[in-house]
Amino acid sequence: MPDRDERRSSTPEAGARGARIVASVLSADLSRLGEEVGALEEAGVDWIQWDVMDACFVPNLTFGPDVIAAARRHTTLPFEAQLMVANPDVLIARCVDAGCERVIVHAESTRNLHRSLLHVAESGGRAGVAINPATPIDAVVNVLDLVDLVLVMTVNPGFGGQAYLQSMEPKLRLARAAIAATGRLIWLEVDGGIAPDTIETCSAAGADVFVTGSTLFGDPLGMAHAVQDLRARANLAASRVSAGGAATA
Ligand code: DX5
Repeated sequence: MPDRDERRSSTPEAGARGARIVASVLSADLSRLGEEVGALEEAGVDWIQWDVMDACFVPNLTFGPDVIAAARRHTTLPFEAQLMVANPDVLIARCVDAGCERVIVHAESTRNLHRSLLHVAESGGRAGVAINPATPIDAVVNVLDLVDLVLVMTVNPGFGGQAYLQSMEPKLRLARAAIAATGRLIWLEVDGGIAPDTIETCSAAGADVFVTGSTLFGDPLGMAHAVQDLRARANLAASRVSAGGAATA
């Protein structure tokens, strides 16, 4: 197993901006998980997101810390776990022990979000916070001091291959403003329906981390092409906006 200091990091660093492309392994061939995470490293993704689902918080059941630990031996890529479960507190420390440097807790999944995010740090991990499409950004503004990533879901969580919700873009702009107001380096991540025809307006709305599953694993030109194409489109849209222009030509 690559030990902690051999692994790369997904920490938001000053200056090193630019779009990050993150793989959701929900769309991978789970019968060959070790090979798939190795191939993701070859393809140039920045890190891997594990969609932990319990068939209670979301209508699907996936994998937990044991599967994550098994995959840990096959790559030096950073891991984050998105806990789509009804009782995240029982899984936080186990996900960190399994090799996740970040654990993302859904604001809707816990009675005490502040305590759950503190528990991630106490477990040796870095915390992220996620909100579902119906949840306003106000639900997380009081915990931005505890996280290095905010995840705005662009689909209702539970499955890959769903249509992107463009109606989330106003909320992305509010999230970007709330993050800027903290003066801290915090990633703004989106997840669900990210594809060549959706990533540009999403990037222009303020996102800088893009989770992708079906686009990445389904690209007929291969995963490396998908990563390069998505990253180029996101960076171009962001540079157009910062130059005062429109997101797309
Ligand atoms: C859905 C998951 C997503 C999903 C993304 O609940 O959290 O990560 O796998 O898959 P695509 O990119 O196919 O929408």
